[in-house]
Amino acid sequence: MKILVTGGAGYIGSTLVRILLAEGHQVRVLDSLLHGGHALLGVWADPGFEFTRGDISDRKTLKPALAGIDAVVHLAAIVGDPACARNPELAKAVNLESSLALIEESQLSGIKRFIFASTCSNYGKMNDVNQYVDEDSELQPVSLYAETKVGVEKALLASAGSRDWCPTPLRFATIFGVSSRMRFDLTVNEFTMEMMTKKHLKVYGEQFWRPYVHVLDAARAMQLVLSSPAEKVAGRVFNVGSTDQNFQKQQLVEMICPYVPDAQVEFVHKTEDPRDYRVSFKRIYDQLGFNITRSVAQGIEEVAHLVRSGIIHNFADERYRN
Ligand SMILES: NC(=O)c1ccc[n+]([C@@H]2O[C@H](COP(=O)([O-])OP(=O)(O)OC[C@H]3O[C@@H](n4cnc5c(N)ncnc54)[C@H](O)[C@@H]3O)[C@@H](O)[C@H]2O)c1
Repeated sequence: MKILVTGGAGYIGSTLVRILLAEGHQVRVLDSLLHGGHALLGVWADPGFEFTRGDISDRKTLKPALAGIDAVVHLAAIVGDPACARNPELAKAVNLESSLALIEESQLSGIKRFIFASTCSNYGKMNDVNQYVDEDSELQPVSLYAETKVGVEKALLASAGSRDWCPTPLRFATIFGVSSRMRFDLTVNEFTMEMMTKKHLKVYGEQFWRPYVHVLDAARAMQLVLSSPAEKVAGRVFNVGSTDQNFQKQQLVEMICPYVPDAQVEFVHKTEDPRDYRVSFKRIYDQLGFNITRSVAQGIEEVAHLVRSGIIHNFADERYRN
């Protein structure tokens, strides 16, 4: 297939692009390079790779970017609660309005497959602490970031129904692991890096639950959806992760401690956190046979190894966070 990856220079995108090229697909990346483009250097010389620097908010860039394309993987966004809270107008324009425009242009251009990167943050807070939320649970977004994701999901699901258009929103768990565009502002990566480099970590709300998935497995899930029969994935939402990889922040700290036994961890107890969710990933396992290949424990080891390696000099550099 010829696949357009918006946001392909990012943390997840740069890993996905590498996997798709290795599988023999042709890949075009459309990215405005908010955090630089160095993550694409490793694929630059691949004959199947094409790059367009552009902003998805600029409607004029969409048509040529979609020309000759079979499938779109839409990752470009202002990513995360803090980044969206800092610039709400931009977040709404990029994450919501431009995504809706991209969906419309994709349909007009005859694109068949459309994957949208959504998030398990859409669940907000579990109603019952003893249960897992799943794809049919009520969505309770508690941030602008999640609100924009819910808005796009709704529009995408409403657009489903025609035989030639196969839209699939994927709700990713919080990602971890090493990618060419490294992010140290994601919980597992951040906790590991901070404990190792500063020997100190402040944890807010250690008892709250979140699911986690490795960046490589997130990319594999998209590859799997692209190659699954349309009738299995068209207009279907899938959570992406593994049910046994839901953890409380306290549990993450316990897994990191053996790497830095002398680190001091300060727990700032919070009784209320609007986001507290344990997620079931049964649907993607049962219906598409998706299984993860890397656990959180393995991801911690991977990040710890990176931190010790000396490859990265300045962990505080802005390029490593959104
Ligand atoms: N990282 C996670 O834990 C996580 C979890 C759930 C969902 N997601 C979703 O996955 C997607 C990718 O996330 P990521 O962690 O790789 O983030 P990232 O910030 O590393 O990547 C986003 C990319 O989008 C590009 N971009 C931003 N605005 C753009 C615009 N207007 N036009 C063109 N390109 C633009 C950026 O330059 C960047 O390369 C996002 O949609 C995010 O919401 C991420």
